[in-house]
Amino acid sequence: MELNYGKMRFETRYTYDFVERFLPSECGRLLEVGCGTGELAVHLSKHGHTVVAIDSDSESVTAAQQLGADARIATWPEFDDGRFDAILFTRSLHHIHPLDESIRHAADSLDDGGCLIVEDFAYESADEKTLRWFTSAIHFLEATQALTASDEFLGRILSKTETLRAWRQNHEEELHTAADLEAQIEKTFRRVIMEDAAYYFRYIANAISAAEKRDAILRSYAEQEVILAADGSINALGRRFVAMPAR
Ligand SMILES: C[S@@+](CC[C@H](N)C(=O)[O-])C[C@H]1O[C@@H](n2cnc3c(N)ncnc32)[C@H](O)[C@@H]1O
Repeated sequence: MELNYGKMRFETRYTYDFVERFLPSECGRLLEVGCGTGELAVHLSKHGHTVVAIDSDSESVTAAQQLGADARIATWPEFDDGRFDAILFTRSLHHIHPLDESIRHAADSLDDGGCLIVEDFAYESADEKTLRWFTSAIHFLEATQALTASDEFLGRILSKTETLRAWRQNHEEELHTAADLEAQIEKTFRRVIMEDAAYYFRYIANAISAAEKRDAILRSYAEQEVILAADGSINALGRRFVAMPAR
């Protein structure tokens, strides 16, 4: 695995800007659940935050430690290490079971004035018109030879007749919908802010071959998703939640 994320890649920057917007002004200790290879945790640390990062996957944790994160192998909701000023679930909450206990434990692990910050997606929002836009975006990148040929998931998405079916096959196994996340967060937290966000660009991120142009390409697709979703031409895939406990 090649790891040298000195410069923040666009997909991390997109989450980082969202997180920074909502972190409490006095943010001493921060927990990231499902940190993957740790790029976000490392950049948050570089910007002065004390970050504990956990992931249930040992290879990811080793990679995160190599990047310099305080990363630990742990599974939510079993992890306990005192209270935090913010708890982040960065594209991990849709995987985590049981959902009610996971959200409850997050609320109980927050200090007074702390908040829950969730970056996730609503895979159930994908419809034919949205996936038509996404497949045409992939075709354009292929035509300009900006994509590597080997991404199996993109290959399946490109299958013209099975687009929606391929999407569902890739997303429906044991994942929570955004509606599940929203209902559970609303049930547990006092004040909940929710916003839509771009997300489709993340599927292309690992398949772009032109290294020097990748961030510009990803930014352009993120902007397209936001603009087209705003006028109802497609459905944005990303969902974000920020919530304060009911105490
Ligand atoms: C889609 S990846 C996101 C990784 C990273 N945050 C990112 O945005 O690139 C989801 C991560 O959550 C981790 N994960 C899934 N269930 C978990 C659990 N119950 N506790 C801790 N980590 C979990 C997975 O191992 C995986 O690394």
